[in-house]
Amino acid sequence: MILKELKLTNFRNYGSASVEWSDGVNMIRGDNAQGKTNLLESIAFLSTFSSFRKSSASELIKKNRDYFLIRSVFHALSTEHTINAAYSLDRRYRVSLDGEEKRKVNKFIGVLNTVVFSPDDLMLMKGSPDERRRFLDREIIQTAPSTQMIFHRYQKTLKQRNALLKGDHVSYAERMLDAYDHQLAECGALILIRRKELLEKLQPLVRLSHRRITDGHEELALIYEGGLDVFFKGKHRFDEWQDAFLQQLKMTRKDDFKRGFTTFGPHRDDIRFFINGDDIRHFGSQGQQRTASLALKIGELELMKGQRGEYPLLLLDDVLSELDEKRKEALISVINGKVQTFVTDTGSEKIFDDAYEFRVNNGNIKLLRD
Ligand SMILES: Nc1ncnc2c1ncn2[C@@H]1O[C@H](COP(=O)(O)OP(=O)(O)O)[C@@H](O)[C@H]1O
Ligand SMILES: [Mg+2]
Repeated sequence: MILKELKLTNFRNYGSASVEWSDGVNMIRGDNAQGKTNLLESIAFLSTFSSFRKSSASELIKKNRDYFLIRSVFHALSTEHTINAAYSLDRRYRVSLDGEEKRKVNKFIGVLNTVVFSPDDLMLMKGSPDERRRFLDREIIQTAPSTQMIFHRYQKTLKQRNALLKGDHVSYAERMLDAYDHQLAECGALILIRRKELLEKLQPLVRLSHRRITDGHEELALIYEGGLDVFFKGKHRFDEWQDAFLQQLKMTRKDDFKRGFTTFGPHRDDIRFFINGDDIRHFGSQGQQRTASLALKIGELELMKGQRGEYPLLLLDDVLSELDEKRKEALISVINGKVQTFVTDTGSEKIFDDAYEFRVNNGNIKLLRD
């Protein structure tokens, strides 16, 4: 996939900007707080219609303006397309592909694919379980956009169920819970299936890239921590999974009342990373964690390539300076001539031959040389 042009209006600190990109590597340089990450954020927005920095869409609108607009021209499987996305203070999204607008934004998720690698990802192994779940779910949504609705419904039902569990009206809650449990089990079982499928595909790719980076000295394993194995054992049909989920909710209901929240479900699960059998979170050095993060990102890139038939755009936000020579080389060898890449950097080190060099200064972007 190749992003050819990007035009921003009122996005973050950009009033109006227009960029033509290189098909290869684009180096985006500039001091702190000038708009480098904002630029990557706008590109990633075109693939998920949300911010990878966990900001709400309204925070993306330039201060004192009432909308933002991102316009783009890109190539997917060698065909040219345009995708535009706008959001206004009255909470309206407008997204169009090749001039055609759809009422539901999520129809266009994953039309343009991106993989973001940021300093937060380097912390993924040590961070909170919530971030690791987000990693999985973001990936699922980008490759199967219709699942966004399922995540949404799950979260909504979970909130309502938890409110009942916390409330004082136990007999009322008991009556209502059956309906909520049913809904939660349906969405929850779907989410678990998607996560299971994703991990099965991701695992071998991540292992392979990890083995390459460590010259075969280390074996990385990803293990899903939660009800998954017990849950799927001996069951093959969706209604069986949904039923198992429902049974689990019934079993934990008493405990849930005591604790005031839902204790079972995909919102409580986690992924653990092991190197040669040891849990990275407890035993991994910082270097090992970085290698694992890198392997994970390369795995993600390869997975999308497998699913879409071409590489997604790779957005590297301030991570190159965090990687040592060996890891940097591993990453560069994957990118090299195959993946259109956008790299932000505060320094001036030349890392890639043939990169377009851009300079960002207070919401203005300028091509220095190509
Ligand atoms: N909605 C907004 N409107 C105007 N400016 C914004 C908005 N959101 C962020 N900014 C500004 O963007 C700058 C940070 O941009 P960022 O891309 O994160 O910087 P960096 O170049 O360090 O990656 C800050 O100066 C911040 O005030
Ligand atoms: Mg930044």
